[in-house]
Amino acid sequence: MGKPIHGKYYSTSEYHRAWFTGELFKEKQSFGTFARFHPEILIDQIRDLVKDPSKSTVLEIGPGNAPVSAALPFKRRIFIDRSAKIATDLKTPAALIEVTAKNLDAFKGHSSFEKIKERVNKGEPTYAGIRLDSKNTQIVVGDATALPFRKDVMHDLVVVNEVLTHVKPEERVKTLESIAALTGAILIVDRNRLPLERISHHPRFTEANRLEMERQVDFNELRKALPTNEWHVQTIEVTSEKQAYTILKAVRRK
Ligand SMILES: C[S@@+](CC[C@H](N)C(=O)[O-])C[C@H]1O[C@@H](n2cnc3c(N)ncnc32)[C@H](O)[C@@H]1O
Repeated sequence: MGKPIHGKYYSTSEYHRAWFTGELFKEKQSFGTFARFHPEILIDQIRDLVKDPSKSTVLEIGPGNAPVSAALPFKRRIFIDRSAKIATDLKTPAALIEVTAKNLDAFKGHSSFEKIKERVNKGEPTYAGIRLDSKNTQIVVGDATALPFRKDVMHDLVVVNEVLTHVKPEERVKTLESIAALTGAILIVDRNRLPLERISHHPRFTEANRLEMERQVDFNELRKALPTNEWHVQTIEVTSEKQAYTILKAVRRK
């Protein structure tokens, strides 16, 4: 493990700082995420957590350019993103999701499905717009660590895809506690920390590895925010693009 995991730039302290300050997302989301490669998996998890979206409300934190809750007909949807540019882009008619052979099925029913399929089959880079219905969608610029929402309005679901990774490790449990206070169910996906944790004692464990580890999310620690007498929590381990991810699903006990 002497080599930085994602190449030199990603190991610089400059990149590491930008990862946590929001600097990386000022203009756009420049890298692929689990939600962009596999929206269909997360959409299935949402279907499992929310039986009837048309009677439910969802708060999606840090939707970036893969607002997965947009794929289901929620009664009311709030997106909150720290990047004003990204939030504004969500107001334009469509939010873009990358379509590949793997997630093509999730776009059945899309008005341009045949065209999308044709491009994907030819191996051309393909993005599909998910049209946001502005009548029931509210877009807010704000921070997951200081959510500007009333505590007495409960949502049916909060979605937090690859956002906690951008919250400093020591603030993650507190952030999730404040999220949990707003909802009956939670869906989180993030790169998990387990593999590195196992090797961090190795003599050749480098500073670059340590920085990478800080960007990964410790799901055992997140569970602290969701006590078992109040929440039923399930985790699913998945991999995408050679990265290990955890999907955490939590439902408040009645
Ligand atoms: C890696 S992208 C993930 C986007 C999308 N959820 C996905 O999975 O593809 C992180 C997104 O969260 C936003 N973000 C990062 N930190 C945030 C914070 N503290 N509060 C709100 N949004 C944040 C970024 O602006 C960006 O849009």
